[in-house]
This record gives sequence, C-alpha cells and structure tokens, in this order.
Amino acid sequence: MNETVKAAARAPNTASLAVHGGEPVRKTPMPPRIALGEDERRMVLEVLDHYAERKVDPGYQGAFEKIYNVGPEQFAERITPNVSAAIIVHAAGYATQIDKIVEIARQHGIKVIEDCSQAHFARHKAKPVGTFGDIAAFSTMYRKAHMTGPSGGIVYSTNLDIFRSALVHSDRGKPRWRDDFDDRNPSTYLAPALNHHTDEISCAIGLASLRRLPATIVSRLAFVSDFVARLYDASEVCRAYRFMPTSSPFYFPVIVDVDAIRCSKIEFAEAVRAEGIDLNTHYKYVVCEWPYIRPYLADDFDTPNARSIRDRSFNLYLNEKYGEQESRDCVKAIVKVEKHFKIAS
Ligand SMILES: Cc1ncc(COP(=O)(O)O)c(C=O)c1O
Repeated sequence: MNETVKAAARAPNTASLAVHGGEPVRKTPMPPRIALGEDERRMVLEVLDHYAERKVDPGYQGAFEKIYNVGPEQFAERITPNVSAAIIVHAAGYATQIDKIVEIARQHGIKVIEDCSQAHFARHKAKPVGTFGDIAAFSTMYRKAHMTGPSGGIVYSTNLDIFRSALVHSDRGKPRWRDDFDDRNPSTYLAPALNHHTDEISCAIGLASLRRLPATIVSRLAFVSDFVARLYDASEVCRAYRFMPTSSPFYFPVIVDVDAIRCSKIEFAEAVRAEGIDLNTHYKYVVCEWPYIRPYLADDFDTPNARSIRDRSFNLYLNEKYGEQESRDCVKAIVKVEKHFKIAS
C-alpha cells in the first residue's frame, strides 16, 4: 500500500454514518407499540355493558379493578383478630410480593410461613424465597427442582427458637441441641411428635441435586422462554402465563381462551395430553375448595381469582431435560388441538 492509500484508509469515512448523511441501517420506522388492540376494545365494551346494565357510570375500585388484582392489599383486607399465622405459597415458580406481605403481617403480630415447594430459589427483589418470613418449607420430592429422593423436605428459618420447635416436631419431640438430651431416654424429650427426620442417603442425594440447582433452573427457564415465544407466534387460543427470569419453573400454566373453543377447558387439555404432552388438566390444589380445611381457616376463605385462572388454564409439567424439541412438540400439540376445537370466526 502506498502512503496516499494508507492515509485514505485511516481517514474516517464520515459520509457512511447516517448522522453525516450516509444510509441509515434501518429505513423503516421502529414498530409502534399499539398496546390498545382488539382485546382491549372488547374489554372496554364489556365494561360499558356491565355498567349500562346497572344504570351507573364506570368509576374506580369496581368489579374490573378487582379481577387479578391480588396482592398485599388483599392480604391486609383479610386480617381479623383470629389470624395468628399465614401460609404464603410461591406458586408455579413465581415469588409473591412477600416483602410487603411480611411487613403487613409483622404490624399485626402474624407469623409468616413461606411455602417454597414450587419455587426453589425463585427471587423477589434479588432475595431468594424462603428468606422473608418466619419459617419456610420446601418440598424436595422427586419432581421438585431441588430433590432429596422420592420424598423429602427442608425447613428453613433464621429464628433459632422457631427452628428448634420445627426440629422437635420433626423428630419425635427430641431437643437435640440440649446438653442434657439423651437419645435413649424419652423422658428428656419435649413433646409428642411424629418421625419426619431424614437420613444419610436422602441428604447425599439432596446435596448432589443442590449443586446442580442453578443449572437446573437455567435449563427450565430456557425451555419456558422458548415455549412462550413459540406459543405466542403459533396459537390463537392459548397464551402463556407470565414468565420472569427470576422465577424457578416447576410447572407452567397455559391459559386457554375458553370462549374461543367448542369444548370445555378440561376436554381441550385432555386432547393436548393425548398428543403425548405431560400436563395437569385441572389444578385441584386450590385450598378454598377443600372441605376438610374449612375449620382451620380464619374466615369463609375464598380465592375467586385463583379459581378463575385455574378454570381457564392447564399446567404443562416440565423438567430440566426439556429442550427445543419438547417446546416445539408442546406448541404443535396445542395448535393441532385448537384447530380442531376452535369456534370458526
Ligand atoms: C406448594 C406445595 N406445598 C406442599 C407440597 C407438598 O410436598 P410433599 O408432597 O413433598 O409433601 C407441594 C407438592 O407439590 C406443593 O406444591
């Protein structure tokens, strides 16, 4: 290269920058959001009909504000003098707004038990679930992100008294931390209690699973992320539940537009399952529906939002072995079924 050519090569090519009059990379505008589409139009018409029927104008804090609107405020509303403890479930891999719930609970002297069985190491504001309340429980049965064998569980607390009480109740009333405790002398035990204690084999399996847990969660998240994108592109009837990178997927809810199909949601989900997709057609763990539990609840407990979302969804089972092929197959099965059951528009 002679000197003149070298100098030209070093000189900035200002004309090629768009800011200097060159061709821009993108010649069409970026897509506008248009967040208000057909769905929103339909919902607004629903509001107008709802209030027209009642011969009043729509205001605020009404029926539509209440739908999905579940959070710490709803927890606060339910507190009565009978409430001494609250079990907060981090369901479907997602952390609840646990910090606010704990704050409200503390103001009322209410103990908070976090049930983290479906959300091991899901985070809320950068802190893992289980570290907010007074005590936390993690199921570690064989389907859970962290498992200790066929069946098992972990209890976590930073409060030593609470932790010791849990220890006593998990192991036949034994106060193992006390100097005068004698394993062979039941008269030194503190209370009648069952034998829920664990064993060396379960703990060793649990350690191996725990070491793999970050990778387990990343794989599960990768599957869910891929599935959500594919479902969004392909389905007209189903949409994915919310997805957050801070969650720890256990199962994944798929919401069905029940007005767009000519079968029940359960029949729809059964048809998807028959295509070879592992799923729960109808989540029956909605506490307010269990007759035996009613005497233990502080009031006439009902969770209409939980019932509502359950009635419109099925849950894909998943694990860390699921990859792109499983994601494709899940979406293919859903789309195949919805083509069959979709009401012609
Ligand atoms: C939220 C929640 N709590 C508790 C449990 C009970 O766990 P286990 O079957 O290990 O007793 C489960 C099991 O799936 C669960 O999902």
